[in-house]
Amino acid sequence: MSSTSQEISLQVSLPRHVAIIMDGNGRWAKKQGLPRILGHRRGAEVAKKITIKSRELGIPYLTLFAFSKENWQRPREEVSALLSLLVEYLDSELPTMLEKEIRFKMIGDREDFPVEIQRKILEVEKKTAQFSQMTLVLALSYSGRAEILKAINDLIKEVQSGRLGKVEVTEALLRKYFYFPELPDPDLLIRTSGELRVSNFFLYQLAYTEFYFTDLLWPEFTEEEFIKALEVYKRRERRFGKVYEF
Ligand code: FPP
Repeated sequence: MSSTSQEISLQVSLPRHVAIIMDGNGRWAKKQGLPRILGHRRGAEVAKKITIKSRELGIPYLTLFAFSKENWQRPREEVSALLSLLVEYLDSELPTMLEKEIRFKMIGDREDFPVEIQRKILEVEKKTAQFSQMTLVLALSYSGRAEILKAINDLIKEVQSGRLGKVEVTEALLRKYFYFPELPDPDLLIRTSGELRVSNFFLYQLAYTEFYFTDLLWPEFTEEEFIKALEVYKRRERRFGKVYEF
């Protein structure tokens, strides 16, 4: 692994957690006169490259929004092609994750997926669970509102069952019921394709996240563009609601 001097200078203020909304696969395919699924296929290749670059740079957490809860409403053929692509991705990426020592985690509603896919996800999670340098999180059948509701409902169940006494709900307590409680809030959110929306992603966790939008479609996104986003992040002054200078 060799790093450029630009990459080394970035490491001073590297985000701990980068989250990406990989948007624009369909538009990219349309522009090329290709079926939408080939846009997703190309998008999965870009996702692999950005994961490897994150590992090389030393980013501890990378979350990729690969399938939203709303995406189930897409045409049946597209949903089924995306599911096949997911299986193919998990199969082809497991050896890379083992080689590069990347831990894999899924966030989202597992039970929405066919049982074989649930098993595969669990298998990749288990086989990579021992790695601690970097965690790749795939958001699958994920929605930020659903995550908050799940946390509240799970908490209510714990109280009703008597496993938890009368409690005051604090941030720390609520977070314990999120899909992946130890995941730090994203420092940087990247969204491609020129859309300026959050689209039900990490609603609770984005409170102090820096946003980076680019007009590039996800299949056009490159390692160089990723570094550019990290450079922009590095120059941002994060105040977390406080004032540092008068
Ligand atoms: C948005 O593009 C992208 C998605 C809905 C899915 C993201 C999926 C991938 C990048 C491929 C699979 C990745 C993995 C890691 C398995 P869009 O279809 O909404 O694009 P459009 O807005 O141009 O139509």
